[in-house]
Amino acid sequence: MNFIDALNWRYAVREFSTDVIAPAQLQQLLDAARLSASSYGLQPYHLLVIQSPQLKQQLLEFSLGQDKVAQCSHLIVFAAHTNIGDATVNRYIKQFSQTRGVETSQLRNMDEHYKTALAVMDKSQRQEWAHQQAYIALGNFLTCAALMKIDTCPMTGIEFDGYDRVLGLREKNLTTTAVCPIGFRHPQDASAREKKVRFAEHDMVTLL
Ligand SMILES: Cc1cc2nc3c(=O)[nH]c(=O)nc-3n(C[C@H](O)[C@H](O)[C@H](O)COP(=O)(O)O)c2cc1C
Repeated sequence: MNFIDALNWRYAVREFSTDVIAPAQLQQLLDAARLSASSYGLQPYHLLVIQSPQLKQQLLEFSLGQDKVAQCSHLIVFAAHTNIGDATVNRYIKQFSQTRGVETSQLRNMDEHYKTALAVMDKSQRQEWAHQQAYIALGNFLTCAALMKIDTCPMTGIEFDGYDRVLGLREKNLTTTAVCPIGFRHPQDASAREKKVRFAEHDMVTLL
């Protein structure tokens, strides 16, 4: 399936079947999220993969009645780091040093530059920045899923505090950005047959 066909094939699934995603497919999707671009490469987010029926039921209580979070094969929670600052950069510098075999002393300019860039933002701007990075990963995740003919539904129609509480995210310096049930569309999901509502290119794209 080519790229545009895949994007036309995907839609925000309303009802999932009971089919379960194979571990190798799930692994590819997680890799797609992990390989995403992020500002300064800092990757200030974490993914939780929920398969436990009990946990899904608990989260359904905070999903405004959207029972697809319980029906799906896996529920993916995209969570942003909440402790954005020097620790974010230290973590990255350590990884960079290990990955590329460079002494951390040689990364001092990068370290300072990145820490300054985060320090000029106030707390809520830093949080927003972290959520934005998690959204890029979500976008890649959705597109790769479509290319693999795996169904998804990105969701923010949830009670974020409830998700954070059930998953104990605040204690781990995380907070929910968005969630995404994944699996396979139910044959009776009528949404699959609806036409996509998209603005025309001339309303969305300006060539200069
Ligand atoms: C950030 C975000 C949040 C969304 N939240 C929900 C949601 O809570 N429930 C839902 O059914 N769909 C949700 N959607 C799906 C959109 O409604 C859907 O993508 C849009 O209507 C376009 O339709 P399509 O994806 O089927 O092409 C969300 C989409 C995005 C990107």
